[in-house]
Amino acid sequence: MNPFLGKFITLEGIEGMGKTTQLNVIADYLKQKNIPVMTTREPGGTPIAEALRKIVLTDTSESIASKTELLLFYAARLQHYENLIKPALEKGTWVISDRFYDATFAYQGGGRELGFEMILPLHHWVLGEFSPDLTFLFDGPAELSIARIQARNLEHKIQNDRIEKEKGDFFERIRQAYLALARQQPKRFCVLDSAKSKHEVSQEIIKHLDEKWGKGI
Ligand code: TMP
Repeated sequence: MNPFLGKFITLEGIEGMGKTTQLNVIADYLKQKNIPVMTTREPGGTPIAEALRKIVLTDTSESIASKTELLLFYAARLQHYENLIKPALEKGTWVISDRFYDATFAYQGGGRELGFEMILPLHHWVLGEFSPDLTFLFDGPAELSIARIQARNLEHKIQNDRIEKEKGDFFERIRQAYLALARQQPKRFCVLDSAKSKHEVSQEIIKHLDEKWGKGI
């Protein structure tokens, strides 16, 4: 539930499925319609949340326990929600976020195998019933995601981060957890096939936005 004036749209999926490109497509489309838009990402979005992002993604010699990782993502999320997302939505600005809480259910719940049930009490303590109005899930095979991460990091001469260093079955569990979330909440989720061309995916997204909010946008 989102009780605020602005709408809240999130983009989810395993890496390399085209989320970031389509985030810009959505923002441009809404701006064309004179809707005030803000784009952001998780973990991150505020200085403290970005500092927590560095901690959670940097590969250091000390291992991070799965539950510590879970807490760090929710600490970053609460900063992001209180200091950026909520004030923007209250003003009527539409917020588009590259990842939000579904990522925790998929990565920590599925990937790290903590399970959804374990996360729920913390989730409700932090966010209550707050939820995105619409979530686009960029779905595609784990092998494709891994290949794209490697190619991108090689091109930019950067190391894999702590999470990107995980193996294929980790990403497959995340993919399956995301699909389970989408099945549980079919009204909120729109699942997109990342094997389609960028143009086809953009068209599908715009069609979905028009169908959902029609004359509202
Ligand atoms: P990205 O923004 O470059 O995709 O990096 C964020 C990484 O953090 C990505 O591997 C997904 C992961 N992540 C989680 O494991 N749990 C979370 O709750 C969030 C928001 C991200």
